[in-house]
Amino acid sequence: MRFPSSPGPYRAAIAGTGAIADAHARAIAGSGGRASLVAVADVDPGRATSFAGRWRGGQAGPAAYASLTELLAAQEVDLVHVCTPPGLHTPLALECLEAGVTALIEKPPTLSLAEFDTLAEAESRSTAHVATVLQHRFGAGALRLRRLAGAGELGRPLLATCDTQWYRDEAYYAVPWRGTWESEGGGPTMGHGIHQFDLLLSVLGPWSEVTAVAARQARPVDTEDVSAAIVTFENGAIATVVNSVLSPRQTSALRFDYERATVEVEHLYGYTDDDWKVTPAPGHEDVAGLWKPEGPGAASGHDDWFTAVLDALDDGQAPPVTSTDTRRTMEFIAALYASAFTGERVRAGQIAPGSPFALRMDGTGAPWEHRRTK
Ligand SMILES: NC(=O)c1ccc[n+]([C@@H]2O[C@H](COP(=O)([O-])OP(=O)(O)OC[C@H]3O[C@@H](n4cnc5c(N)ncnc54)[C@H](O)[C@@H]3O)[C@@H](O)[C@H]2O)c1
Repeated sequence: MRFPSSPGPYRAAIAGTGAIADAHARAIAGSGGRASLVAVADVDPGRATSFAGRWRGGQAGPAAYASLTELLAAQEVDLVHVCTPPGLHTPLALECLEAGVTALIEKPPTLSLAEFDTLAEAESRSTAHVATVLQHRFGAGALRLRRLAGAGELGRPLLATCDTQWYRDEAYYAVPWRGTWESEGGGPTMGHGIHQFDLLLSVLGPWSEVTAVAARQARPVDTEDVSAAIVTFENGAIATVVNSVLSPRQTSALRFDYERATVEVEHLYGYTDDDWKVTPAPGHEDVAGLWKPEGPGAASGHDDWFTAVLDALDDGQAPPVTSTDTRRTMEFIAALYASAFTGERVRAGQIAPGSPFALRMDGTGAPWEHRRTK
């Protein structure tokens, strides 16, 4: 593990050079010299080599390996961006932590709450950290909302809605790792809505109870393709959460009704300041003046998240999204599935280690256990 006083940029590597890896390479390249991409690994060596060629940056370029094990044996690195399919996240992150290297894992970080606890436990024994990529916490609008809400400027949070209504066709699910509990951990709750309700949780704080439904309506998958939940928070706020891959008019929309204003954002895969809207409550028109956008800027994404990671590392802190914060989101997902599949309301802390919903997100089993077409 590198210490903040070490000279030179953080030495970063990427494991898994598929679709999302470019966003990570771009964030590293755009870090203003604070980090450099020194190596990549992929079980498809041709893909690793061509990815390394694409991200040479005019110099020797990153070295390419056929496995993370080979990469860690050959290179001294500070950070590994884990960009493989979800089922590989835990073993690869454990390998990093054992080598004293910080693992930055793409969402969903693990397949289950129990796997996540294994990672957090390994982190507690390591000099390095484990963090999750949940980039929408770090756009300017989200930072501003948390700052104003935390300072009490908006009054009490009363109600929120959090809608991930995306559209994924059958071709999307032809990729072998998608759509099964064993390889993806869950459906749109685990893989898509996580972006939005993680932001919701980062704003409203600890949740206390979840009541949910989940269904497989239309896609040829083992998992759900839609879920909906009602959530209560320790601060008294209530929220609804919808996670769908069946929605032809796509949106990612969050709305927070505070005593003094409604604050809302609507986008698809990344928001700018233009996507936020503040509506003051009667008699609280001054709140509009507190919301000072910095201009459209870049959309929330991997760049903002990676800047926050580097800032934390420079300060000797655990990088975001930390294991403590991620666990709250992973426990929320486990509780949502537990409520949907048992018909019970589920409280925070109720899913004990060893319970079926800690071990697998489908716990005691989805009611549609048998695959329809796959
Ligand atoms: N944060 C976001 O906005 C966002 C967006 C898309 C995907 N993701 C997440 O990123 C992860 C990867 O998704 P993707 O769409 O890039 O997948 P992908 O299938 O396009 O790429 C995965 C790559 O990992 C490689 N791989 C598999 N096993 C490996 C191993 N043991 N070691 C090294 N490489 C290995 C594969 O060969 C492939 O090149 C998933 O967890 C996904 O949910 C996040």
